[in-house]
Amino acid sequence: MKHFGDLRGILHYVPQFRGRIFVIAIDGAVVAAENFSNILLDLAVLHSLNIRIVLVHGAGQQIRDLAAERGVAISNDDGTSVTDAATLELSIDAISRLTNQIMQNLTTVGLRAATSNALLGHPAGVIHGEDWQFTGTVERIDARGLKAFLAEEMIPVISPLAYDGHGRTLRINSDAAALAVAEALGADKILFISNGRIESKDGLNLRHLPVAQARELLAMKRNDLSQRFRSILHFATRACTAGVRRVHIVDGQQREVLLAELFSNEGVGTMVYIDEYDQIRQARPGDVPEIVSMIRDPVKDEELMPRKRGEITAAVRDYYLLEIDGNPVGSVAVHFHVPSKSAELACLFVKKDHEKQGYGGRLVGFAEKKAKELGATRIFALTTQAAGFFSREHGYEQVSADDLPEHRREKYNASRRNSIVLVKQLVERPAKLEKKRVVAAKA
Ligand SMILES: CC(C)(COP(=O)(O)OP(=O)(O)OC[C@H]1O[C@@H](n2cnc3c(N)ncnc32)[C@H](O)[C@@H]1OP(=O)(O)O)[C@@H](O)C(=O)NCCC(=O)NCCS
Repeated sequence: MKHFGDLRGILHYVPQFRGRIFVIAIDGAVVAAENFSNILLDLAVLHSLNIRIVLVHGAGQQIRDLAAERGVAISNDDGTSVTDAATLELSIDAISRLTNQIMQNLTTVGLRAATSNALLGHPAGVIHGEDWQFTGTVERIDARGLKAFLAEEMIPVISPLAYDGHGRTLRINSDAAALAVAEALGADKILFISNGRIESKDGLNLRHLPVAQARELLAMKRNDLSQRFRSILHFATRACTAGVRRVHIVDGQQREVLLAELFSNEGVGTMVYIDEYDQIRQARPGDVPEIVSMIRDPVKDEELMPRKRGEITAAVRDYYLLEIDGNPVGSVAVHFHVPSKSAELACLFVKKDHEKQGYGGRLVGFAEKKAKELGATRIFALTTQAAGFFSREHGYEQVSADDLPEHRREKYNASRRNSIVLVKQLVERPAKLEKKRVVAAKA
């Protein structure tokens, strides 16, 4: 029975993925390893499901290996610093051999593929006072050309080299190339295949990484990320901002890794994604002055309960800010009361010039989701002027203040604000539906 469930889970994706473009960004080290032949079989399955695949490969390992073989000192192996003339020459050799190997291997699994000069670039120039010489920056992608291959059911194979139109070949960082290609083609996903995986640390769930959390991880001074994953994560966050909905980072040493990541509920790698709550983030102590100033007017208008700065500071982790382009435009707080298994949705506010665009609704949805995660079975809100918003728009029911948990009732009576009390039950979904939701989250 279980098997049928799994199969249904997989089949559920098929129409969803059909005709979509997935950029597969693969490290040279993965191509060099034994498991690459297994990855090719996964690619063949994806191709057979009418997923349009673009392969962008790195070549760091091949460049290092060839340098060692020839005894050439190279200035850089991954296009993130100076590429001098000798390094470029050696890189072109290593990359050409590798591209050829990939073409050869794709042919063995019956996949048609094409190389092209779709990457157009210019020299990166002088960076931090140093001339990067033959290291390039992607300027433009010949998207029309690549789409023509895809329409022919061919896999474009893109190497980390760009041409500048003046007879120069430039070394491009392959992660940057994957991002540029995905952006230009409007890809649905980028799958980065590298050796190793991004491990959980400090309780962070690194299987599902909302882009805001990925950025926070990158900004941390000690995040124990290897340089390789640092780069991948950096480009993953940029891809999400550029409109690629999902970026998956998987371990190239694992068998059937692409299928396991894409067609199982939990996946096996790290998925960086934009979700609908992406712009909502937990407040930090440094945000307290902003929160205080933001709620000044609604407090004056008696829409919100007055809160002392110290009170906000003490519970700052209960507060969430909705940001647009990094600027806070709204807030909500979720105070969870363990004994009564109830949460209070508080301090809900959207700045006047951002009202009526759905932000209030998103903050309410977010607060409910948070409350559920914390274990609350019901959520209540107190309001003087927005009862209609909660009841009409979000299904809250007005109840008597007697229904408040005891600790909150005392505070309510002391405040004498006579706020309207609203409650919503947070009914747990049946396990089956919950599973489906996770499936959708990975898609
Ligand atoms: C209530 C509030 C958060 C709504 O924010 P918002 O971003 O405008 O909300 P949305 O865009 O999601 O929803 C807007 C809808 O809710 C309705 N709505 C907004 N405020 C309402 C209110 N006070 N009473 C009844 N309905 C209201 C709007 O009419 C609109 O409906 P429409 O789409 O049919 O026109 C915002 O007006 C606010 O900050 N108010 C002051 C603070 C406050 O009262 N907070 C609640 C106490 S915790």
